[in-house]
Amino acid sequence: MTHSLMAMTYTWWRGDDLPSLPPLPDFRCERVVDVPLLTKLHNLTPKKIEARLEDENTAYVAFLENQPTGYGWCGAKSVGVADIFWPITPPNRGLWDFATLPAWRGRGIYPHLLQAILRQEQNDAEKFWLGHRVDNMASKRGIEKAGFQLVNFVVLTSEQQIRLVPRGNLARSYEDPQGLSMGFADVADEDIVAFDFGSLSDDDLQLAS
Ligand SMILES: CC(C)(COP(=O)(O)OP(=O)(O)OC[C@H]1O[C@@H](n2cnc3c(N)ncnc32)[C@H](O)[C@@H]1OP(=O)(O)O)[C@@H](O)C(=O)NCCC(=O)NCCS
Repeated sequence: MTHSLMAMTYTWWRGDDLPSLPPLPDFRCERVVDVPLLTKLHNLTPKKIEARLEDENTAYVAFLENQPTGYGWCGAKSVGVADIFWPITPPNRGLWDFATLPAWRGRGIYPHLLQAILRQEQNDAEKFWLGHRVDNMASKRGIEKAGFQLVNFVVLTSEQQIRLVPRGNLARSYEDPQGLSMGFADVADEDIVAFDFGSLSDDDLQLAS
């Protein structure tokens, strides 16, 4: 039975290492509730931004040389990708919908933003979870540089169900909120093939809320 590998998930727990990153002078990360600024950065409607903020989500914006250059969300209640959402409960946080604006990519903003969020949030939460699409190497590189550990493969089964397949740090894999919501499966590497996304990129994915 063949499963299609769609994504990978990672975690960082309070007390884990935050590897040192090449310095990024003039970088700063701010919690932002300015709906017009967030609307402009995301290309989403104000209504969708407001709904996220009202749903226990914190928006973080990365600034370089005082210009907004990227963003990401930290969810305490639910997080998602495309139109699929799953619950987040204490002591967890889900990190989701990150982007660096195209003109600023490749300077290390993403791992700096991830680490800045972990530093700010770790007093309130203990376990942080995030993922990337299997073909998104830029995201994978940033997540690993920031200090996250692999915990699960996200696969589409032959019955078209999404399941999480524990990998990497197995002691942590089964605590993944996405897996607790969607279910786990025990699948051997030889039964997994890469999912074919066609020409759909992460930039093309429209988040539902
Ligand atoms: C993924 C993303 C957030 C990374 O942001 P970033 O601030 O450019 O991250 P980094 O500077 O650490 O670069 C990460 C990798 O991108 C690649 N990269 C380098 N320059 C790049 C450029 N000009 N354009 C695109 N990717 C570049 C490199 O592989 C780099 O890794 P390396 O420096 O170790 O070789 C950004 O590419 C993005 O917004 N992509 C579209 C949305 C998305 O995929 N979001 C993440 C969903 S999980």
